[in-house]
Amino acid sequence: MRILITGGAGFIGSNFVHYIYNNRPDYHITVLDKLTYAGNLKNIEGLSKDRVNFIKGDICDQSLVEEIVSKVEAVIHFAAESHNDNSLSNPWPFIQTNIVGTYTILEAVKKFDKRLHHISTDEVYGDLELNDPNKFTNTTPYNPSSPYSSSKASSDMLVRAWVRSFKVKATISNCSNNYGPYQHVEKFIPRQITEILEGRKPKLYGNGQNVRDWIHTEDHSSAVLTILEKGTIGETYLIGARGEKNNQQVIELILELMNKPTNYYERVNDRPGHDLRYAIDASKLINELHWQAKYTDFRSGLKSVINWYTKNEAWWKPDKHKTEAKYKELGR
Ligand code: NAD
Ligand code: TYD
Repeated sequence: MRILITGGAGFIGSNFVHYIYNNRPDYHITVLDKLTYAGNLKNIEGLSKDRVNFIKGDICDQSLVEEIVSKVEAVIHFAAESHNDNSLSNPWPFIQTNIVGTYTILEAVKKFDKRLHHISTDEVYGDLELNDPNKFTNTTPYNPSSPYSSSKASSDMLVRAWVRSFKVKATISNCSNNYGPYQHVEKFIPRQITEILEGRKPKLYGNGQNVRDWIHTEDHSSAVLTILEKGTIGETYLIGARGEKNNQQVIELILELMNKPTNYYERVNDRPGHDLRYAIDASKLINELHWQAKYTDFRSGLKSVINWYTKNEAWWKPDKHKTEAKYKELGR
């Protein structure tokens, strides 16, 4: 089985590369990644060149995408601009990569009749009230809030249209917030861990009551592989692991696990349009495809991620300073 993983040098894509490498020895992997600020070749170094082939390039480059897609059997499409705060400062790369890039991938899989799995986010559904008993399901209406989530929603709509109109063999998954190794220091959990490692206080947006539904990235990988191998063409699967926590709780837990007082954090400006709560109902994936999360204890999952950032300072240090400089300008 030859597969193309777009965005395989980013956080979730590279974790998926490792997951496939370790769990499917008969798969040959091609990674296509533009190596934006969020891509890092160190994330996939040390893998055998016989099994993993890296190509630096843009998913909007039609001839390159066609050349690669013609030679594989399936495409797992992770490449995206992925950070809400960046999308508020400069939406254009989100429109280009997330919408035009997905269109380019769709046209290539249509032309060569290849299987596609499109990676998306629960943020396409907008947000929930804190006391809403409902969670997101695959029939929840789309209601995105930010340039990031609206560009991902657009890409999902393109995939659905290409399935219906052109019989493209695609599935979609919408996953909740991931945590794990190789996540860029601009994101919530790595930012707080590395702030503490650098001797500064974690930064909590607004009142800190916003809820995210955390899933370990390895569980995201196992879910995507399950959908790739057992999913029904045209279907959308939501991926989540019952990991709802508010941001204040997460910061306090990080502080406790790093032996700091739990009030050792500062409140900073809130994000404009900040979604209040995400929560995933993954019962379709669990009941129909028999997937199960492995990392059900957030505390121990978080502890292993803290250990990873503590041991891998050389990996995150080069990005830390400029990331914090950007946040400083925003008062966040
Ligand atoms: P990331 O920003 O860490 O990685 C994105 C990767 O895509 C980088 O390696 C980057 O170089 C590459 N890339 C960007 N533009 C490209 C282009 N035009 N051509 C080729 N490569 C390009 O993102 P992530 O957090 O790993 O997210 C991966 C996917 O998962 C995205 O589609 C995102 O929407 C989705 N997702 C993320 C989360 C989360 O919690 N981070 C949750 C659910 C879904
Ligand atoms: P983030 O990791 O950016 O993911 P998303 O916006 O996709 O949910 O942020 C997760 C939550 O943490 C979100 O509610 C915003 C909040 N947050 C902070 O409180 N402080 C921070 O320094 C960052 C980066 C995010």
